[in-house]
Amino acid sequence: MRLFFASWPPAAVAEALSRWAEGARQACGGRATPRERIHLTLAFLGEADVHAAKRLAQAIRLPRCGFLLEQSRYWAHNRIVWVGPAETPPALAALAAALGERDRFAAHVTLLRKARKPRALPAPPALDWPVGEFTLVSSVPGPQGPAYEVLGRYALL
Ligand code: 2AM
Repeated sequence: MRLFFASWPPAAVAEALSRWAEGARQACGGRATPRERIHLTLAFLGEADVHAAKRLAQAIRLPRCGFLLEQSRYWAHNRIVWVGPAETPPALAALAAALGERDRFAAHVTLLRKARKPRALPAPPALDWPVGEFTLVSSVPGPQGPAYEVLGRYALL
């Protein structure tokens, strides 16, 4: 099963980001992440064992954290537009590392895919994204984009 650990935003943050993405789309086209699918990936496990992932999650004893939406960027290598903190907070990086993220973790929330390089992007809404829990999610590719299923929720301290 294709698995990842993620943080889901409060409804008001998802709503604001969804509106922001529609505005940004005027600048660079692309496909906006539907509001209910907006998330921060903490660790991408890929094809992995769900029981092992749940055991790993249950053993986590780390403090709650959060981040501010401070910048909006375009990545040419995968043609996404994302928003995120100016720098990944150490507590968030520690959580990602504990959850098995092996690549250098750069906290980013993907809001547009298959976008063109924009001349400029609007600033993101200046909002706080609290991370009081994390989720284990399975991703199944589909014609309408991936279908996500939450397999477990885990509270931070
Ligand atoms: P992205 O938003 O930068 O594309 C579910 O697919 C989540 O896992 C997405 O948020 C996606 O990040 C991330 N993801 C998908 N494939 C990945 C990969 N090979 N390495 C790291 N993250 C990946």
